[in-house]
Order: sequence, then C-alpha cells, then structure tokens
Amino acid sequence: MSTLPSEIFLHDLRPSAADMRAAVLAGLTRRPKRLPSKYFYDTRGSQLFEQICALPEYYLTRAELELMRMHAAAIGTALGERALVIEYGSGSATKTRLLLEHLADAVAYVPVEISRSALTASVARLRTTFPHLEMLPVCADFTQPLTLPEPARAPRRTVIYFPGSTLGNFDTEAAVQLLAQMRQTMGAHGAALIGVDRVKSSEQIEAAYNDAAGVTAEFTLNLLQRINRELQADFDLRAFRHRARYHPQRERIETDIISRTDQEVRVAGRHVHFAAGEAMRVEISCKYSPESFARLAARAGLRVTQAWSDSEALFSVHCLRPVGRAT
Ligand code: TRP
Repeated sequence: MSTLPSEIFLHDLRPSAADMRAAVLAGLTRRPKRLPSKYFYDTRGSQLFEQICALPEYYLTRAELELMRMHAAAIGTALGERALVIEYGSGSATKTRLLLEHLADAVAYVPVEISRSALTASVARLRTTFPHLEMLPVCADFTQPLTLPEPARAPRRTVIYFPGSTLGNFDTEAAVQLLAQMRQTMGAHGAALIGVDRVKSSEQIEAAYNDAAGVTAEFTLNLLQRINRELQADFDLRAFRHRARYHPQRERIETDIISRTDQEVRVAGRHVHFAAGEAMRVEISCKYSPESFARLAARAGLRVTQAWSDSEALFSVHCLRPVGRAT
C-alpha cells in the first residue's frame, strides 16, 4: 500500500458503505437486475483492471498509448499553456504522464478516482516525474456533483481529461448528462480531451472482453466478492459466470453476470432469488464512430475541434470545446 508524499493532501469524498448498500439493493430489485459498475474498483478490482489493460486481446489501452505517443505534442499545443488538468477515473494514470509531459507550464493536476489505493499509488509515482506540478487528488465518484480543490496559481483554462473509453461505460442519456456536467466544470474557455473506442468487427471487440486467460471474468466476479465482504452477502462465485456480448445495433458490449443455477443469495439482510440462466447487467462499453461521437457531444453543447487516432484506427481521442466559442 503506497502512501502519499507528505505535502500532498487527498480530498476523500469516497462513497460510504451506506451509499453502496443502497445502490446494490436498488439494482437487485430492478428487472432485469443490475449492479453498479463503479464498485468494480476496490483494491483487487483495480489490480485486475491493470492486468486487463495488458492482455493481448484488450487492444484499447495499447492503441490509446500509441496514439498518445504519436500525438501528445500536437495535443499539448492544442491545449495551450497554464492548463489546469482534471482527470476523471484516473486509475493508474499511465496515459496522463504522456499528456503532462507535453503541456507547457501546467498549473495543477486533479485526478478524481474512486479507488483510493489506485489514486494514492498513481500520485506517488507521478510525483517523482513531475516534482513541481501541484497535485490535488480527489477520491470520489466523478458522476456525483463535486466541489473540486482550487489550484494555487490561476489557470488559463481548465482541461478535463477522460481517457480509457470510460465515457463508453455510460448509456447515451447518462453520457450526455456527464458531458454537460463537464462543460459546466470546464467553463467557457475550457476543453475536454476524451478517449473512446471505435466501432469495429464484433469478433475483435468481443475478444477484448472475453480474454482467454479469464482475467476479465475474474474482474467482473470480483464485484460479487466485494459485495460479500462489504455488504455481508453470500454469493457463491462458482455459481455465477461472466458473459460479454457485442450488440451490433446498439454498438456496445454488454457485460453480464449469469446465474448458473436456480438459487437464493443473502445480501445486506435481504433474500435475492436468481433463476438458472438469469443475467444481471454489470457494464456496457459503447463504441463510437467519429460521426456518432460528434452527435453525442453536440447534445451536450460541445463540439469536436480536433481528433486523433492510432495507426490502426482502433481508438480515438477528441478535443471538445463549448459550442459558440472560438478555437
Ligand atoms: N472502460 C473500460 C472499457 O469499457 C472498462 C472495462 C474494460 C471493463 N474491460 C472491462 C468493464 C470488462 C467491465 C468488464 O473497455
């Protein structure tokens, strides 16, 4: 467990056990059942997610890293000097390093991450490379309204960095709402830098979410283990399995946990029944084309000013600005 350098203060706004209990029970009473995916990221879940990012089938991280290596200088130029960088769902912040290296005189870095262990470790690591950059880590659920810490120096603009195709984990309505919230946060002169996975063959996409080594299955089932531990539940992990299927019309991966048997589970004092074969939705991962992404952004009052892709056009990063503002 890593500790933060003493001069860095962590703003801890993590969801409470009561928030998690309410969200899990609400999801289990819906038909079909669902579980909120933000709770994937406990310490173990964040570790498994890092393993997913290195899997041969999971092309997303490699493509986005290649894109950043190729284009970070141009991205840095587009964003200009003295930016305040806010990152949502920063995780290990591996791509962030490439961004920060190319930003002239960045004012501060504000990572917002729900996993405290991932947040602490990433900030401690970034500190050694960027000893003079102000770091204001916030442990929080970024979908909730947040009061973010203020940097010591006045920024020229606020830049919201949202890589990793995390926006794809929200359905269209929720994504529009999140983008609109970002537009508020960035202000009239701000920008957002958003990484999304592109529409491609079902085979290639499905392989990325059903790896041969079974790491993704372990990652999704770890959510049940976490609920067992933190909400006094008794899910038998062997009685459930992972399933991820691409839905070509919806252009998204749908990840479910399937009950292998007819069974009863206790969760936070409640009895929950599962039929044999019953699916519980745990995640969606939406894929975008340049056109569908621009339409989404427009619904939130944002326009795409520039976009970059990796050499195989697997993944894209878009720069967004409020509609009606000059570039
Ligand atoms: N943002 C990532 C994605 O949609 C998250 C992710 C990767 C994920 N693999 C997963 C979520 C497997 C659930 C299950 O690609």
